Amino acid sequence: MVAALAALNGLLFGFDTGVISGAMLYIRETFELATVLGFAIDPSLIEGIIVSGAMIGAIVGAAFGGRLADRLGRRRLILVGAVIFFVGSLIMAVAPNVEVLIVGRIVDGVGVGFASVVGPLYLSEISPPKIRGSLVSLNQLTITSGILIAYLVNYAFSNGGEWRWMLGLGMVPAAVLFAGMVFMPESPRWLYEQGREADAREVLARTRSENQVAEELGEIKETIRSESGTLRDLFQSWVRPMLIVGVGLALFQQVTGINTVMYYAPTILESTGFQDTASLLATVGIGVVNVVMTVVAVLLIDRTGRRPLLLAGLGGMTVMLGILGAVFFLPGLSGGLGWLATGSLMLYVAFFAIGLGPVFWLMISEIYPMEIRGTAMGVVTVLNWAGNLLVSLTFLRLVDVFGQSGTFWLYGVLTLLALVFCYQLVPETKGRSLEEIEDDLREKALVGDAERGDAVSSGSDD
Ligand code: GLC
Repeated sequence: MVAALAALNGLLFGFDTGVISGAMLYIRETFELATVLGFAIDPSLIEGIIVSGAMIGAIVGAAFGGRLADRLGRRRLILVGAVIFFVGSLIMAVAPNVEVLIVGRIVDGVGVGFASVVGPLYLSEISPPKIRGSLVSLNQLTITSGILIAYLVNYAFSNGGEWRWMLGLGMVPAAVLFAGMVFMPESPRWLYEQGREADAREVLARTRSENQVAEELGEIKETIRSESGTLRDLFQSWVRPMLIVGVGLALFQQVTGINTVMYYAPTILESTGFQDTASLLATVGIGVVNVVMTVVAVLLIDRTGRRPLLLAGLGGMTVMLGILGAVFFLPGLSGGLGWLATGSLMLYVAFFAIGLGPVFWLMISEIYPMEIRGTAMGVVTVLNWAGNLLVSLTFLRLVDVFGQSGTFWLYGVLTLLALVFCYQLVPETKGRSLEEIEDDLREKALVGDAERGDAVSSGSDD
């Protein structure tokens, strides 16, 4: 229950991602998108600012979210995030002009930024090792559910053009998250680090047997060596391999193109021969595929492990992007080819949903040592949002320049690179406690240092 509730952080994230494309159609009709703060600006740029406002907010939120999670505690930051998201949604719903709407989007985005760091962090720290993968992946499940709900809301309100309702509905999950988190426990690992051992023990005891409590507490004690890490600690040589893994996963998760589908699905589908409403409905279909395959990932991830899902997912995405590029390369998309394009698009989403989607958020909550976990996740998440912003700002331009097929092939090449990167560098973390993972990392670094030392000394012997 704790996990399901905490995973609502993802719902804010997903709802925010999915809702704007639908709302924008009608925002255009309410406001004359010609000026911002009295400056004449190109309408499409104003739209771009409204859409990306949330991502800019999220970058800011993620940048401070990690440190704040270390300082305030995981639970308290979730509460703060929910309030900010609620306020942002309210501001948007009542916005009298574009400027206020943009402010609302940015505020809302800050809430999403907090949620995107602290959600997986909290989940991974309260989970027993055996089911940690599934519990943390619930967060990705609620992200995809949030996107799907937003698509449905868009569809439901599309007749009346009620964009204020579309955006304002974000207040509901925010309120539920807040109300629920008031009653939830703090992360035992964070409590222990604050010197509150008795509280930590109590939280663990609520979901573990007595033996397990003793064992896990013992491990936590051993691992927590220094007080709280700083940004500089992130660059210590023994943490560096995991910094590279986190940064790589963060960027690859975005530059392989998933959010072009999340933000522009109706547009892409129209070019395969769908009419207006049919394309909105097919978009709902894409949302469903995304959720269903994430459920599959949640069920499998602690059994097969992270790596097999990640690698199989990336392989599948590469193939689908190859096919998509080829289909769009042919002139006159319609009939059978149109369906082939739609089918490949859905499979591309399915392969993302089973691998890169959940595995990124899970891995970054597992691979960092306790003392810098919050900070490290914050840094990596900022990069993920920056990649998100970059892709959503450049997609339409790329299509102008390279055409749809060239753009899909570009994402395909990047996906292939991601596959090589993950095959070489991403570790398996299945079934191990966070402390074991950390110990392993320290040991590897020691072995590495020793080997390097040997090489140097044998070199000088020669
Ligand atoms: C992941 C990505 C997010 C994307 C979503 C789609 O959570 O981080 O950017 O929108 O998957 O399912």
